Amino acid sequence: MRQSAKQKRFLLLAGVFLVPLALIFSQCFTGGSESRDPRGILYAGSSTCVKCHKDIYTSYQHTAHFQTTREASPQSVHGSFSPDSNTLVFNDSMKVVMDKQGKAFYQTSYKNGKVLQKARFDIAFGGVKAETYLYWKGKQIMQLPVSYYNALHSWGNSPGYTSDYIDFSRVIGSRCFECHSSYIKELPSESQSLSRPVEMDQKSLILSIDCERCHGPAGNHVNYHTEYPGVKEAKYIVKYKSLSRSQKIDACAVCHSGNSGNMLRPTFAFKPGDTLAKFKEISFYHEDSDPAKLDVHGNQVQLLASSACFIKSQMDCATCHNTHQNQRGLIPVFTQQCQNCHTTQKHNLCKLTGRVDQSLLNKCIDCHMPAKPSNVITVHNGGKSTLVPYEVRTHRIAIYPDEAKKIINMINAQTQKPVHKL
Ligand code: HEC
Ligand code: HEC
Ligand code: HEC
Ligand code: HEC
Ligand code: HEC
Ligand code: HEC
Ligand code: HEC
Repeated sequence: MRQSAKQKRFLLLAGVFLVPLALIFSQCFTGGSESRDPRGILYAGSSTCVKCHKDIYTSYQHTAHFQTTREASPQSVHGSFSPDSNTLVFNDSMKVVMDKQGKAFYQTSYKNGKVLQKARFDIAFGGVKAETYLYWKGKQIMQLPVSYYNALHSWGNSPGYTSDYIDFSRVIGSRCFECHSSYIKELPSESQSLSRPVEMDQKSLILSIDCERCHGPAGNHVNYHTEYPGVKEAKYIVKYKSLSRSQKIDACAVCHSGNSGNMLRPTFAFKPGDTLAKFKEISFYHEDSDPAKLDVHGNQVQLLASSACFIKSQMDCATCHNTHQNQRGLIPVFTQQCQNCHTTQKHNLCKLTGRVDQSLLNKCIDCHMPAKPSNVITVHNGGKSTLVPYEVRTHRIAIYPDEAKKIINMINAQTQKPVHKL
């Protein structure tokens, strides 16, 4: 075993100096030991990173990536369980009730007042705009019929469930977890039957997108720097700066290039520096990426790749995004990125009205990366059907004359003396 010599040394030391025993044990067992991380001995587990990367570790906890899969709890489930708002009526005879029993949350379906099915919230997916919930049934994982939508501040049917159909048996495969978690192991299929739903090893699940999901296995990195605290240059870890542009894009495209394209193998094994084409059949540089065809699972990579900014510069995702921070809504930070390349001095800004003042400088994104509705989700509430537009910021940076008109009218209305016209 790779670790055994070192572990023996630690144990020996522990015998001599009793005090730091707990610390030493925890180092032995989290610092790259064989059995701890379900992905294998090369992984240290992200809790080890906090010791030397405290700032990044702390800020990262607040990101959508970190929170994308969590155990169901009052922190991760945002819908209301109070009696006046815990029921989703599907039709005259069918409804689902959400309730709390002890520490657990349940969804129970009723038909004409009689209980049909009941299951517990085990895992929560999402949290920014929408949440959906899964439960374990033996070795299978299923989606619950009711989700939560921030735009409505209420429960709604899970995508694809219609008003006369309540179902607890939608099996969720490992594919969702490839983009929303760090690892889950599919159990080998015992029979060869293709219709047999996938079974998964519950103990192998690593919730959240963790540090090593993006940076690759860091066991040796942690061991090395623990052993040699004086070394200030990173060892045994892929350096983003040394990657080519397409390798950098691929590291995000693993999960941000949409849900179409045949999968060749699971992306859990993808490490920075790998080529995504070895995992997924995909062509990025679509001239015809149509923002209207965006789905909930946005194609940021394809859309950006079809923008003039991307084609005529060396930008990558990290030009605008710091993935260690929650930057949602930090519009000034993003507009500053635009203005790092586009300035009046360089004559590559809009020629809108001959003058570009502060009111426009703050709004580059509203006009050039408008939020566009994705698949419109029909949500049933109180027997009524409500359309919930799920909007996604398009990454095709371009000129959208209709959006521009809307924004200009808004600015003019606010300033009361029209300063801009189109
Ligand atoms: C014992 C200390 C230590 C631990 C634990 C540690 N690192 Fe590091 N790491 C360093 C040092 C030292 C550097 C180099 C200085 C720097 O960039 O902060 C570094 C740099 C890095 C870099 C930057 C590489 C580059 O130059 O682009 C990444 C990425 C990284 N570490 C990831 C991780 C991850 C992921 C974990 C947890 C699994 C982790 N580190 C745990 C000490 C550590
Ligand atoms: C393992 C899959 C995965 C990888 C790799 C990944 N992302 Fe994501 N990303 C997601 C998922 C899933 C979400 C949606 C999370 C949610 O809202 O629950 C997301 C959300 C985001 C968001 C929106 C954050 C917010 O506050 O709503 C940004 C920005 C983003 N990713 C950028 C990146 C960039 C840049 C990279 C590459 C450095 C990257 N992602 C790599 C899966 C991934
Ligand atoms: C190819 C990667 C990928 C796959 C596969 C995938 N997702 Fe996503 N998912 C994303 C990304 C990226 C986002 C963020 C959407 C955006 O704004 O572009 C997201 C968003 C979501 C959201 C809304 C999150 C929020 O915070 O608002 C939910 C819920 C969700 N996904 C659930 C699922 C489920 C359930 C599955 C499996 C049926 C699944 N996803 C499969 C990448 C993926
Ligand atoms: C969604 C993918 C993603 C996740 C998750 C992620 N990182 Fe990073 N990390 C990146 C990218 C991309 C860069 C390069 C940024 C750049 O070049 O501007 C980076 C750079 C770094 C660096 C070196 C540069 C710096 O900012 O100091 C360190 C250290 C690091 N990451 C540690 C971590 C740790 C620790 C975690 C977990 C708490 C983590 N990362 C989670 C994508 C990610
Ligand atoms: C890394 C530099 C860079 C960044 C950052 C950048 N752009 Fe660009 N952009 C370019 C280049 C280069 C072009 C091609 C035209 C040119 O040569 O000026 C371009 C073209 C454009 C165009 C013309 C599109 C068309 O189809 O004719 C618009 C609009 C635009 N950018 C808006 C933005 C906005 C808004 C942002 C911020 C969200 C932004 N850009 C960020 C470099 C950049
Ligand atoms: C020119 C700047 C720029 C670049 C480059 C860029 N983004 Fe974004 N991205 C933005 C802005 C602006 C937003 C909207 C932020 C907000 O509303 O809080 C955004 C939002 C997102 C979101 C959340 C979408 C939503 O509406 O919920 C995801 C996911 C994302 N970016 C992924 C990526 C990925 C992956 C790449 C690389 C392929 C990338 N971005 C490159 C500027 C950029
Ligand atoms: C009110 C909407 C609006 C805002 C705000 C806005 N633009 Fe524009 N932009 C337009 C329109 C419309 C055009 C095309 C007509 C024109 O060039 O005047 C355009 C053109 C452009 C072009 C192409 C210029 C060329 O010569 O091809 C670039 C680059 C650009 N904008 C960048 C930006 C940046 C960067 C910001 C923020 C500092 C910004 N725009 C703010 C609406 C807007």
